Amino acid sequence: MATAREIDLAVAVLRAGGLVAFPTETVYGLGADASNAEAVKKIFAVKGRPASHPVIVHLADAVQLASWAREIPEAAHLLAQRFWPGPLTLILRRARAVSDVVTGGQDTVALRVPSHPVARQLLARFGGGIAAPSANRFGRVSATTAGHVRREFGDAVPCVLDGGEADVGIESTILDLSGGAPVLLRTGWITAEELTRALGIEVAAAGEDAPRAPGTHARHYAPQTPLMLVEGDLAVEIAASLVRQGRRVAVLAFSAAQPLIAGVNWVAAPGEAAAYAHALYANLRALDESGCDTILVERPPRDPAWAAINDRLTRAAAGAAEDAAT
Ligand code: TXA
Ligand code: MG
Repeated sequence: MATAREIDLAVAVLRAGGLVAFPTETVYGLGADASNAEAVKKIFAVKGRPASHPVIVHLADAVQLASWAREIPEAAHLLAQRFWPGPLTLILRRARAVSDVVTGGQDTVALRVPSHPVARQLLARFGGGIAAPSANRFGRVSATTAGHVRREFGDAVPCVLDGGEADVGIESTILDLSGGAPVLLRTGWITAEELTRALGIEVAAAGEDAPRAPGTHARHYAPQTPLMLVEGDLAVEIAASLVRQGRRVAVLAFSAAQPLIAGVNWVAAPGEAAAYAHALYANLRALDESGCDTILVERPPRDPAWAAINDRLTRAAAGAAEDAAT
């Protein structure tokens, strides 16, 4: 775990316009001083991320909202009270001073108060907002350990604060409060039902055709190895058939009982949604590095508790399919 001294050093790096990778309860972030446009540009360069993709500004406390948003609707106060610090990002109309580099030129800004103790200390000592996307190369699997971040960026990001394994394991829920009705832009651990309950007005679950956060598209969260989502009862049959065609197959399955198929790397995923999410990106990274040429993922249940997981897996499969096609 990062020491107070390491956190002080990271604060100095941020003040000098450098990059700091830090843990949050969702995934690791790649941070820069959000009020320093040149520093934020470095994030885009290191990630290989297009400038049109806005980044989230992380804050120590909800009272800082007023410096970043020019309009804070009652719903934002309610949700901040209920879910912050925690894995919820709110989109609000931006304050005039917020850089276009942060917002991708939009009139809105994404804000979140994370709960990880290292993130909280870093933010409290730094005092300002830290702009941070997930600490992974563009389109790839997010990082849930400091080791993942180091492997992802190497010498390009020397300052990595270690906060152990990210607790939640998938990115925050994103809710747009900048217009009339709240719009869910990204599913996450906090569900549409919970938001609906907290607000007392319907927050629609993000469907296939629902609006999405700018820059998010089907191809995202993808390992390098082609990934296929398969119905559970077919996993063994499909794996066996691929092996007969000479493929090296890895399976992320729900059952720990590995069927006896030579040449298949069988990884058992937790059967409960929170544990599955926590382990998801580490599992995908391990499968990606296992030397297989196809990853099969047994499709999780289609119920609301699994919505965010199904969203990430669907995109991982779409990304892998696109890679395979090009
Ligand atoms: O859990 C998380 O949210 C992590 C941790 C590090 O906080 N961060 C994260 O950042 O996942 P990133 O950049 O990988 O995803 C942020 C998403 C992007 O899809 C971006 O388009 C959206 O937030 N976003 C940022 N600003 C926005 C805005 N003004 N309006 C709509 N969407 C926005
Ligand atoms: Mg990301």
